Amino acid sequence: MKSLFVTGTDTSVGKTVVAAAIASALKSRDIDVGVMKPLQSGGDEDVNFLLKASGAKDELSLVVPYNFKDPIAPSLAARLESVPIDIEKIKDAYSALAARHDVVIVEGSGGIMVPIIEKGLDSYLVSNLIVELSLPTVIVARAGLGTINHTLLTIDHAKKKGIDVAGVIINGYPDEPSLAEKHNAAMIENLSGIPVLSILPFVNVAGAKFLEKVVSAVDVDRVMKIID
Ligand SMILES: Nc1ncnc2c1ncn2[C@@H]1O[C@H](COP(=O)(O)OP(=O)(O)OP(=O)(O)O)[C@@H](O)[C@H]1O
Ligand SMILES: [Mg+2]
Repeated sequence: MKSLFVTGTDTSVGKTVVAAAIASALKSRDIDVGVMKPLQSGGDEDVNFLLKASGAKDELSLVVPYNFKDPIAPSLAARLESVPIDIEKIKDAYSALAARHDVVIVEGSGGIMVPIIEKGLDSYLVSNLIVELSLPTVIVARAGLGTINHTLLTIDHAKKKGIDVAGVIINGYPDEPSLAEKHNAAMIENLSGIPVLSILPFVNVAGAKFLEKVVSAVDVDRVMKIID
């Protein structure tokens, strides 16, 4: 089985929620799922949510090889905290997790062009990490106005880097969608040739029910096809 990288069109689009929902959906099919957030900035919320959803019990040194204090781009956090980022450390942690689990769901930081190591035009971006890990990638996108532009830009960059874009997952689809929200998924598919794998609703409940509701909207068969 293959692992999966979850990126997004922006920060706060729902990468953690989608990655956790995929992990939970796969777990319910008796697949042993590991999770990873290679570069976390600004608190442990993401990793805690991912670990809870997947049931994985791996040590944090593998799940979150880099954990920065402030909610800022990894390259800046690394510079301000004087912790140089070594990509080999991330790759080794990923390999260790991949050896233990059937699948590892890896959540990126921010969007696909977020800098990990800043070196001018030769900077190492999230997209470079996806290429090195060689993982099929899902793009989490917002439902509303503006998402066509952000999603097409993300797909365009991913394709230029040679990334296998498995599909888009639209997150936060409201009960009463606007005109744009009703049409965005079909337009993204038409304009990009990339499938929209699932449309996850905006869920307005807290606690365990939250993830349950999101998971029920994940098209697990389509996710299975990507990782098979
Ligand atoms: N479908 C949804 N319904 C309701 N709230 C949601 C949904 N998806 C995400 N959220 C909320 O939106 C916020 C951002 O989501 P999330 O943390 O998953 O984004 P992210 O892309 O992982 O952000 P980051 O770039 O910080 O990793 C969270 O508070 C989350 O609970
Ligand atoms: Mg997140």
